[in-house]
Amino acid sequence: MKINILAIESSCDETSASMISDGKILNNIVATQSVHEKYGGVVPELASRAHQQHLIPVVHEAIQSSGISKKGLSAVAFTKGPGLMGSLMVGVSFAKSFAFALGLPIIEVNHMQAHILAHFIDDPKPVFPFICLTVSGGHTQLVLVKDFLDMEIIGETSDDAVGEAFDKTAKLLGLPYPGGPLIDKYATQGNSKAFVFPVSDMPGLDFSFSGIKTAVLYFLRDSLKENPGFIEQNLADICASVQFTLISMLMQKLKKAAKDYNIKEIAIAGGVSANSGLRNELMATANKLGWNIYIPKMEYCTDNAAMIAIAAHYKYLKGEFCGLDVVPEARLKF
Ligand code: KG4
Ligand code: ZN
Repeated sequence: MKINILAIESSCDETSASMISDGKILNNIVATQSVHEKYGGVVPELASRAHQQHLIPVVHEAIQSSGISKKGLSAVAFTKGPGLMGSLMVGVSFAKSFAFALGLPIIEVNHMQAHILAHFIDDPKPVFPFICLTVSGGHTQLVLVKDFLDMEIIGETSDDAVGEAFDKTAKLLGLPYPGGPLIDKYATQGNSKAFVFPVSDMPGLDFSFSGIKTAVLYFLRDSLKENPGFIEQNLADICASVQFTLISMLMQKLKKAAKDYNIKEIAIAGGVSANSGLRNELMATANKLGWNIYIPKMEYCTDNAAMIAIAAHYKYLKGEFCGLDVVPEARLKF
């Protein structure tokens, strides 16, 4: 019989379900929560309520469109963490009760590991060991990936995540949440050298992104004092310059990691890996340094259940199930 797994993702503000059969993703249903836009960021209480509304229809659609009946399921997988506690609780509680009712085993998945394992959904797949730069709204990590379930964090941010830096800058510019994709869009029309922002200097392979947020804040305050129309007149240049600075910080540490570990298999993962500037810079560096690079499809960059499903598939093969006493962990580590 085939290994058929239903996977659920509910760590932040996307409610998602996916069906996987023998390691092949059959679908990836995502309901995005628009309720947060007017607040300029994810409101945890509203996120968990929206998950409660979206989860059953999303799971129903994933199962229905897969052509596999509930009786044909082998296991149910879910995101255990890291993420927002209230959001995680909705997915974990649903997965446990659904699996219990059907007498199925359950598989817990680490959201950050799943972002990396999204590279094993389609070809070409990275070869172990590889380095993955995981960049999202909550995390910025350099990970040494030795095997499917054997990963080591070799560098990470000491304060804000890079996605947060994108979103907070966007907010200062008066752009709606999430601002990352909008900065990316405006940056394509701007001059990345128009304004200079400080590049943080952290030891080893660690990052720091809180300084740039403050630098942008003061820069805008001073510029607006002289010219109230400064943002409207320079939006593309500001976006391009901030994006250039953030990408430089990421690339500097990524190059150092590749050199330190003598690895040329390089992957990126997480929401910010959708950024076109980062993708272009990565391709240019790969050409120069002879790296093999792996960039996931757009739909597998931002939060989705297909990545939970592929991670669960490898855990299933190793017999890594958990008990019904499992609870979500907002700060789950590897
Ligand atoms: O991985 P993800 O979907 O959710 C988390 O687990 O955090 O990442 C969301 C983050 C947000 O900060 C969003 O602004 C950022 O990814 N993002 C982008 C782009 N698309 C999404 N940042 C820059 N450029 C983009 N094109
Ligand atoms: Zn994520």
